[in-house]
Amino acid sequence: MAAATSATALSIGSTACVGSIATSHANSKSFGVRFNSSNYLRRFSGLKAASSIDSEGDTSFLAKESCASIQKSFVSRAQKRNQRSWTYVQPQASYKVAVLGAAGGIGQPLALLVKMSPLVSALNLYDVANVKGVAADLSHCNTPSQVSNFTGDKELASCLKGVNVVVIPAGVPRKPGMTRDDLFNINASIVRSLVEAVADNCPDAFIHIISNPVNSTVPIAAEILKQKGVYDPKKLFGVTTLDVVRANTFVAQKKNLRLIDVDVPVIGGHAGITILPLLSKTKPSVTFTDEEVQELTVRIQNAGTEVVEAKAGAGSATLSMAYAAARFVESSLRAFDGDSDVYECSYVQSEVTELPFFASRIKLGREGVEAVVKSDLEGFTKYEEKALEALKPELKASIEKGINFVHKQPVAA
Ligand SMILES: NC(=O)c1ccc[n+]([C@@H]2O[C@H](COP(=O)([O-])OP(=O)(O)OC[C@H]3O[C@@H](n4cnc5c(N)ncnc54)[C@H](O)[C@@H]3O)[C@@H](O)[C@H]2O)c1
Repeated sequence: MAAATSATALSIGSTACVGSIATSHANSKSFGVRFNSSNYLRRFSGLKAASSIDSEGDTSFLAKESCASIQKSFVSRAQKRNQRSWTYVQPQASYKVAVLGAAGGIGQPLALLVKMSPLVSALNLYDVANVKGVAADLSHCNTPSQVSNFTGDKELASCLKGVNVVVIPAGVPRKPGMTRDDLFNINASIVRSLVEAVADNCPDAFIHIISNPVNSTVPIAAEILKQKGVYDPKKLFGVTTLDVVRANTFVAQKKNLRLIDVDVPVIGGHAGITILPLLSKTKPSVTFTDEEVQELTVRIQNAGTEVVEAKAGAGSATLSMAYAAARFVESSLRAFDGDSDVYECSYVQSEVTELPFFASRIKLGREGVEAVVKSDLEGFTKYEEKALEALKPELKASIEKGINFVHKQPVAA
């Protein structure tokens, strides 16, 4: 495993330049839409991971490099048009993103958020149903990316060719009373066939797995990629960003902190007790009573069920999940774009415990996982130590279930 990143390297990179654009050009026209740029940029707060050191600036949807070029473009255009307060931003968009399961509850809002990224040039939407309408609708947004739709097995290869990031929310969501593991039989087969196509058509892409149970679907994807001879553990990610987003939100509410400042690493897996928020590592530093730790931990672990029950049979988290997934896409694209300060928690192949897959904070680079942030994994409280030991058997069983699923069935040629 790559070297640990020091605690001081944990700045997740807030972009002061965004704030300066926002304040110096309060009224602007971006992507050809008239709106207040300050509000626009602030509305996207959080799509970039919060900075643990330097979170004064607003987090942003924009990469640093893009930010610099946008700022330059913004300023020069604004100067040319200083008679009018409106200006126009044309950021550099050069990456291709595919969403598989794009017509679903997560897929649609996720596609919308990715469509708004200035880093994306092509957005390929694939689903077995209803994707044409989603793409037609989205294609009317005058942001830089070109939207294309694909459906059916025959079009999957074209959807994936040349893609940098593949996001997979395809599958069925939970209903009240179901665990994520209850989804295994259907979603395992879906993930298996989609990852086979990814292996055949864009083996170098980052693969973001959203379909549950993530604790098993990521090992399934790894085994498929191994069978196809294209497995790169640095490029396969289980998306656990929603657990971090929830932890940040609930801690900020509980402790009356400014939401944008809060950063809680979440490790382990993505189901029930395998979700372990490290409250002792909360930034900014804050103390919790034992009762608060217990209450917050359980709420973060069961937050998905909170939504499933509130939706009463109409599905699981979709909007917050889309937001979290868009943040992870944006982080990946910033890493592609050369930003050397990109950190996210994700469920990946790991050596931090005896388990072959484990979620923890990683540093993202052009080639995928560059390092595991080990400082998060030192100095656990007694509560965290106990919870870590308690989650291991369940996580181990889920990983084995995924691996066994693949080995019971031959991979397609
Ligand atoms: N990782 C997380 O944090 C997290 C959070 C919430 C939900 N999820 C999971 O995400 C998945 C999707 O949830 P949703 O609410 O969007 O479900 P949904 O049913 O609304 O959408 C799923 C979409 O997948 C499509 N689909 C099914 N089989 C497909 C295939 N073979 N190829 C392409 N598309 C296919 C469906 O047509 C549908 O449009 C579920 O497994 C859910 O449990 C994960």
